[in-house]
Amino acid sequence: MNNNALSTIIAYHEASKHRLDGYAPGPGDLDWANQPDPFRRYAGTQRCELPLRVTPLQMPFSEIRSGRKQTPAALNLAGLATLLELSFGLSAWKEYGGSRWALRCNPSSGNLHPTECYVLAAARDGLASGVHHYVSYDHSLERRAEADPAWDGELAGGFVLILTSIHWREAWKYGLRAYRYCQHDCGHAMAAVSYAAATLGWRAQILENWPDAVLAALTGAAHKNDFAEHESEAVEVALWIGCGNAPESLDLAQTATVLASGLNFVGQANRLSAKHVHWAGIDAVHLAAERPVPPSSPLISPAQWPPLAPIDCSQDADVLIRQRRSAVGFDGITAMPTERWFTMLDALLPRPELPPWDAWQRPPRVHLILFVHRIAGITPGIYLLLRDHSVAPALRQAIREDAEWAEVAGAPRHLGLFRLFAADARDAARLISCRQDIAADSCFSLGMLAEFEAALNAGAWHYRELFHEAGMLGQVLYLEAEAAGLRGTGIGCYFDDALHALLGLSGHGWQSLYHFTVGGPLDDPRLRTLPPYAHLSGRQVC
Ligand SMILES: Cc1cc2nc3c(=O)[nH]c(=O)nc-3n(C[C@H](O)[C@H](O)[C@H](O)COP(=O)(O)O)c2cc1C
Repeated sequence: MNNNALSTIIAYHEASKHRLDGYAPGPGDLDWANQPDPFRRYAGTQRCELPLRVTPLQMPFSEIRSGRKQTPAALNLAGLATLLELSFGLSAWKEYGGSRWALRCNPSSGNLHPTECYVLAAARDGLASGVHHYVSYDHSLERRAEADPAWDGELAGGFVLILTSIHWREAWKYGLRAYRYCQHDCGHAMAAVSYAAATLGWRAQILENWPDAVLAALTGAAHKNDFAEHESEAVEVALWIGCGNAPESLDLAQTATVLASGLNFVGQANRLSAKHVHWAGIDAVHLAAERPVPPSSPLISPAQWPPLAPIDCSQDADVLIRQRRSAVGFDGITAMPTERWFTMLDALLPRPELPPWDAWQRPPRVHLILFVHRIAGITPGIYLLLRDHSVAPALRQAIREDAEWAEVAGAPRHLGLFRLFAADARDAARLISCRQDIAADSCFSLGMLAEFEAALNAGAWHYRELFHEAGMLGQVLYLEAEAAGLRGTGIGCYFDDALHALLGLSGHGWQSLYHFTVGGPLDDPRLRTLPPYAHLSGRQVC
């Protein structure tokens, strides 16, 4: 373990905490004149305009979430277009007071969308082989590099998606804490890809052995001259997309290196802002969290959990994915039925055969501290959901002695759900979530408690992975909430140590990495909603 890397990560984590007596360093006032362009484009690249809504998808979300396989869609351009549309594509435009902004199928802190997506593909069905960048604004692919014929063999059975982050997009608004948000957003995006793949009968799977340096070579992120200063991209993760598991030969660092050799990148990235504020702390943590070829680590064992209980929801998965939104307020009245709450929590358990955990396959390191406000038949209070029962003894030691650890009547035993304190937890939830009412007016809100020190001791890059896991949990909650006729909202703004203090946690053994809330939404009637792709009507496709 590189101690320098670890101490850099810890120093960043501490410095980027919001505290009751002061927020993490930020830009102060927002510099609207330099707001980053939310859409990246590469001038001088060959473009392929993708077909919109071409594949008829009639797969209820209830079946996707419980792992029912449908006949896989053909691995062609139409399928790829659908995958990208349902994960990174636009879902609507919003308009208010002369401003207009796009929403996407994946959520994003501050709607700033730091995550970019690259597709590695062999030649097929009108798509040229090579490295393509997805542009959500006009649902097109830009070819950054032509591929070697060797790609045709390696990528015959699927595609590879590589996700990157543009730190500046988030740092413009959030300053030092932005690095965390980029990781959250990447986790949401990974889960969004997994659900989108499932609607096509495909699966997504992390390529565990592809190191960052090779991802940078494969996406062109390594070519710093192709980007304006402070606007380069940080690679995050590579995902196999296919009808089944990734070929073993593909998930080797050596294969990634072979694919990357001889790529000639074309195109110049658009400038996103005229001026920037440089956050040296973000550069430092990014460097410290670089992922090398990881030592082999255990994947989650299959079939550890009983089947996920079904839900009553007839909506097709693609409809639900497109309609997903963050609630901007909650009614403070709606009570969620108990059984629905149990199945929603159950969907957060890491079943490796179900989306989005089929993409993840790593041991769970993030557990939930739940602020229960309005669940029918459940005493309001603070609860704990363990996503891995084996951590119970360590948490019992770490959490205050007066916690009840009471089993919840009627909850499936495998859930690992405990009541810690019976209380009206609304004020605490609101206060801890940066005084946001959405944490108190909902049915329940939560903090995601990570096995922080243990994860970092296995490698500094696990810092990123903990946030990715938290983001994936957030995406499950967004879709499960939508399916329950409720709505969710990610909460990146929270006072880290206030949650730790509430539970009596000290040191870095356990850290809260993300918050979330689910309830009966209130609409903002001032906003006008417009369709996502009306501006593309009558387009030609490649
Ligand atoms: C990581 C993350 C953190 C977020 N933090 C907050 C928050 O603290 N407060 C809030 O009201 N919304 C928060 N949101 C919701 C975003 O503002 C929302 O996703 C974005 O505006 C896009 O809207 P949509 O989710 O409806 O597509 C967060 C979302 C994400 C993904």
